[in-house]
Amino acid sequence: MTEIESIATQPASAGTDQIDTESIISKEDFGSDFRWGVATAAYQIEGAVNEDGRADCNWDVFARQSGKIKNRDQATLACDFYHRYEEDLELVQSLGFKQFRFSISWSRILPDGFGKVNQKGIDFYNKLIDKCLSLDIEPWITLYHWDLPQALEVLGGWKNRKVVEWFADYTRICTTAFGDRVRSWIVLNEPMAVAGLGYTTGLHAPGKKGIWNFLPVVHHLALCQAEGGRIIRDNVANSYIGTAISCSYVHAFSESARDVSAAKRADALMNRLFIEPALGLGYPSDAFPFLKNINAYMLEGDAEKLKFDFDFIGLQNYFSVVVKHSYLAPVVWLKEVPAKLRNVPTTAMGWEVNPDGMYQILKQFEKYKGIKEIIVSENGAAFEDVFFENDVSDTKRVVFFQSYLAAILKAKQDGVNVKGYFAWTLMDNFEWAEGYSARFGLVFVDFKSQERVVKDSGKWFAGFLKEAKTC
Ligand code: BGC
Repeated sequence: MTEIESIATQPASAGTDQIDTESIISKEDFGSDFRWGVATAAYQIEGAVNEDGRADCNWDVFARQSGKIKNRDQATLACDFYHRYEEDLELVQSLGFKQFRFSISWSRILPDGFGKVNQKGIDFYNKLIDKCLSLDIEPWITLYHWDLPQALEVLGGWKNRKVVEWFADYTRICTTAFGDRVRSWIVLNEPMAVAGLGYTTGLHAPGKKGIWNFLPVVHHLALCQAEGGRIIRDNVANSYIGTAISCSYVHAFSESARDVSAAKRADALMNRLFIEPALGLGYPSDAFPFLKNINAYMLEGDAEKLKFDFDFIGLQNYFSVVVKHSYLAPVVWLKEVPAKLRNVPTTAMGWEVNPDGMYQILKQFEKYKGIKEIIVSENGAAFEDVFFENDVSDTKRVVFFQSYLAAILKAKQDGVNVKGYFAWTLMDNFEWAEGYSARFGLVFVDFKSQERVVKDSGKWFAGFLKEAKTC
């Protein structure tokens, strides 16, 4: 039985609560120059991990270890995008999106991490880019979305300062190969997740733990963020360069001085850590003095090397957080008050649904003088989707998108220079440590048959993105 058949046995009423499908906002409200796209990441969709010369990345190795990924899921097939990219891009077009964000698998291009280029890897992305262009979809490249070649991981990965040279070589190769047709580039995707989940808590690949990993990894990522920008600028004519930062508006649990200062530390880590060095403001040690320890990894000239004048900042927002002081969490001295305990609406990930948090974080970023433009480069939600009679009635996701878009529009009308929006994500995929259990797609994927079914949220977007005022 396929996944679709097995869940098709659910009762008719499941997940079909009525919503007002009359759109409260319209695409036109955002202006004719506003960009509308969907975002994806190589490791989450491509599969074909052993094909055409690709070597292991750190996630392949991590996923093979027991207990790391829910249900022991692996991304060996994922959405089989490597073979199905043409029909999937046609799906992007049918949903009305004009921009497609994808990442490059470093280990497809450079199986050893550096050195010999794998031409078949280049060929794949060339075909993908050309297909986008033939469909009148603008390809947006993310250079690094969390999958590091395992050959580099064994050399210390992001802890090894040599990663700056490795990343520079990789960026030169990609810009030389694709820069004639791709103008829009995102250097890193959510570096805080790499440093925090990958090298500190160990919940993501490579599964390393310890606060003393955190500091060099942050510094090397921040150096690569700027160095990548410089290389793209040199190699790509008329480029539009950004980097994507995970951002969550932080509230203090109470007005007590300890909770307020805990919230400032959380804000420094979650929102300020990667933007401020790029803007020449250094690491935010004013709010979190522990970050002064990064100085031990700074070489002469690094303060300059951390700076880059990005054309846009990619802001990725899924939820807001409430934090309080905690004596049980050494170094950070804070803990999150989970949304479930606060009796607020949540997604299937347990993340708080709070469109006002999107508004607040956009306003917070607007205050940085050095940011020219903001693109919301990811936003979306996982819910427990129900497939019934050839339909996935994901009402909650439709409402999620409508309310977050309304919050973005309000921020735009209140002066934030937000110039685009990418929904996360095109289709259900390999959701990192959650495996296939968390579905974020606008398109439902049956992972056994690889059948795709456009969800109601996908249909809602298709209606919204049409020129007509309402869906
Ligand atoms: C990441 C995506 C991920 C999404 C949902 C973002 O932080 O960039 O890769 O799937 O969050 O967890």
